[in-house]
Amino acid sequence: MDPGEKQYTTNFEIGGPLDGSAIGVVVESASEHLPLGATVRHRLGWREYAVVDETAVTVCDLAKAPAVSWLSSMGQTGFTAYAGLLPVGQLAEGETVLVTGAGGAVGSMVGQFARLLGAGRVVGSAGGVEKCAWLRDECGFDEVIDYRNTDFREVLPTAAPDGIDLFFDNVGGWQMVSAFHNMKIQGRISMCGAVSNFGSQQQPSLAELIEVVLRRITIRGFIVRDFEHLRPEFEERVSGWLASGQLVDRATIVDGIENAGAGLEGLLNGANLGKALVRLSD
Ligand SMILES: NC(=O)c1ccc[n+]([C@@H]2O[C@H](COP(=O)([O-])OP(=O)(O)OC[C@H]3O[C@@H](n4cnc5c(N)ncnc54)[C@H](OP(=O)(O)O)[C@@H]3O)[C@@H](O)[C@H]2O)c1
Repeated sequence: MDPGEKQYTTNFEIGGPLDGSAIGVVVESASEHLPLGATVRHRLGWREYAVVDETAVTVCDLAKAPAVSWLSSMGQTGFTAYAGLLPVGQLAEGETVLVTGAGGAVGSMVGQFARLLGAGRVVGSAGGVEKCAWLRDECGFDEVIDYRNTDFREVLPTAAPDGIDLFFDNVGGWQMVSAFHNMKIQGRISMCGAVSNFGSQQQPSLAELIEVVLRRITIRGFIVRDFEHLRPEFEERVSGWLASGQLVDRATIVDGIENAGAGLEGLLNGANLGKALVRLSD
């Protein structure tokens, strides 16, 4: 929300629609590519009606995935997980993967994609008993650390006893530092985000980075839009996993623009499971 330069979103404008991918149904059309009744995804913000250019929308094939999935597993957050694991993280069969923020939109896909792509052990961190149980029991994580109720640093060595090959970081801060200490020599880190920066929590010192030297770790930050060329293969794979029932795609949906504020708070206080969405109308 701050006025600084944005890398993968645009600044909010007072009085303007909120930024973010949106899905809707075509109610009027002058394009043969966008027939009436088609479900489309666009980036013109959250609005009841939008006038869109046919080149600026994605037609969502509901035979491949339900509408909600085109914003989650088949949308930007699923694509972020895919990019961070494969081209950035170079995930290989049998590897141990740690993902922080595992109960969120990106994290819940990272753990499941990693398993489907052949990871040997998938470990996550999330806040709260219910969220951790969901990730273990339904999403197939091998181990999930409830960082809100246990000491993450203490539990991590037991959760990944042979060390971590690939660490997908959504959280930063102290969880990232704990991960440094449990990486294998020459392990890899995909740096996706740092949601712990948004709070008032005290952040670790840069001196902690010495562990990256000692363990010869490669850290690579990434922005998903640099991988657009992989979009077709990503959609092909994920729609296949959805169709075969191998992928759990859960969203927390808030009804009405008037409740969007509470939905946003849910991103930070752990209330949301999976992708957070706002439904503007039926
Ligand atoms: N690099 C890119 O191209 C790219 C693209 C999309 C998103 N991102 C980044 O990826 C990250 C995840 O995005 P998302 O869409 O998955 O968000 P999300 O759905 O809101 O999930 C974030 C998760 O972080 C956890 N969390 C919140 N505050 C925390 C804290 N202080 N410490 C530890 N965990 C905390 C939340 O639940 P619990 O506390 O209950 O675990 C939540 O599950 C964000 O940092 C986002 O900016 C990057």
